[in-house]
Amino acid sequence: KVKTITNICCIGAGYVGGPTMAVIAQKCPHIKVTVVDVNEQRIADWNDADLNKLPIYEPGLADVVAEARGRNLFFSTDVDQAIDEAQMIFISVNTPTKTYGVGKGMAADLKYIELCARQIAKVSKDDKIIVEKSTLPVRTAEALSTILNSTGNGANFDILSSPEFLAEGTAISDLQKPDRILIGGDETEKGQSAIKSLVAVYENWVPRENIITTRVWSSELSKLTANAFLAQRVSSINAISALCEKTGADVDEISRAIGADSRIGSKFLKSSVGFGGSCFQKDILNLVYLCRHFNLPEVADYWEQVIKMNDYQKHRFAKNIIDTLFNTVSGKKIAFLGWAFKKDTNDTRESAAIYVAKELLEDRAEIHIYDPKVSKEQIFADLKSVCHPEGSEATKDLFKNVIVHKDPYTAMQSAHAIAILTEWDEFKTYDWNKVYDEMLKPAFLFDGRNVVSNEELEKIGFQVYNIGKG
Ligand code: NAD
Ligand code: UGA
Repeated sequence: KVKTITNICCIGAGYVGGPTMAVIAQKCPHIKVTVVDVNEQRIADWNDADLNKLPIYEPGLADVVAEARGRNLFFSTDVDQAIDEAQMIFISVNTPTKTYGVGKGMAADLKYIELCARQIAKVSKDDKIIVEKSTLPVRTAEALSTILNSTGNGANFDILSSPEFLAEGTAISDLQKPDRILIGGDETEKGQSAIKSLVAVYENWVPRENIITTRVWSSELSKLTANAFLAQRVSSINAISALCEKTGADVDEISRAIGADSRIGSKFLKSSVGFGGSCFQKDILNLVYLCRHFNLPEVADYWEQVIKMNDYQKHRFAKNIIDTLFNTVSGKKIAFLGWAFKKDTNDTRESAAIYVAKELLEDRAEIHIYDPKVSKEQIFADLKSVCHPEGSEATKDLFKNVIVHKDPYTAMQSAHAIAILTEWDEFKTYDWNKVYDEMLKPAFLFDGRNVVSNEELEKIGFQVYNIGKG
């Protein structure tokens, strides 16, 4: 009794819902895929004839959307209709850290998830498979099931967990060639049959041996665990970078040396100004919260350290700039290259740049920012969220000292120092001789990503500070 899926709805047209559904539609032309969102502007942008206006910048995404949109891929604000028509509903709404009440600052805020469940329960007239795509605390499926199956309108729901592992900047290739697909479901016959329906969707392009099926709780907890392990690698190598700077060892040489051990592996060992992105911090906080909830304080403290180390790394970078510029950046022009949390994305959520900027602004720096994909409005919104309450005198003062540039060279002109916050490839191609000539001397450059060549720049005359190089 395995249901063949021909109609999918996805609630949430964000960084996960949009690209994930675009690739499912591309690979499964026989399935109608409708992505819905309450954000009307977002849906309008997904439908824009000009593919440069898609709400998300992701290499390769525009081509996939161009191929499938209007054929079997649709973006809509009519949530009820899409739910009604679908046999399978993916939930990929946001699950941010709670900012109020119980678990404030730690637990995942599940209000959007719950709203989806209530809406599905209200609208559905027939049986449906519900897929958790959002990252959720372990045992959320239980809560979903309680809400969904308590309406008494006769519809039956199977709940699967299928967390998404794509990384931004490489989302399309991650989706087209995933290391694995994970699907968790109930051990009952019904649950197993729901798993098979979703496996059949992915089998259109993913080899069966790369599709892992587990119990629901394992699948939910695997996602938090994967992000915690990944973030832990970055914090571990960043911890070593601090020691490198004191001892004259070179962190990139260390990454290479330890990464050659196949048990460690070479990926995700790039020391940086600190990890950002919407998920690592939020998911670890959620994991820590869960551990405390289940009275496992030692486990909670262990994982919390990953975040503390990351905060330390961002702070260390900002402090090094201030210390090196003779203990104050007051009135000094600091050029920021990059604002996104990593290259090849316009996403700035939790970007290290925001926190470094905040510290420098508090020391009264004047910050000139250039990022190839991030808008001025986004940069100001990010700063507002961490700096001062909107509208206060302090905010006005602060924003006088932030200038966003469309041209990297004007951002760097007459600067006292340059700070590289994102590893955009184009930074490697700049005319660094020209930059040097137009800067104040000594020309300081703080490379938070070890992206431009040290020796070359030092030959030109720059005083270069790298992460993890003594
Ligand atoms: P996002 O904020 O970009 O998108 C979520 C969208 O859901 C928003 O557009 C919002 O308007 C919409 N939404 C919220 N409530 C809704 C409702 N009731 N009805 C309809 N639409 C609603 O978030 P995202 O980055 O796509 O992340 C979504 C989930 O996926 C999170 O749980 C996240 O942890 C997880 N995740 C994210 C990534 C990533 O790279 N960003 C990767 C893997 C997993
Ligand atoms: C991360 C995971 O890699 C995905 O598998 C997961 O699906 C996703 O989180 C999620 O759940 O949201 P993402 O945050 O998009 O993906 O990007 P990453 O490539 O993981 O980078 C995260 C941060 O760590 C970036 O700021 C990046 O610059 C930094 N990083 C990464 C390093 O500093 N060094 C590294 O070696 C790798």
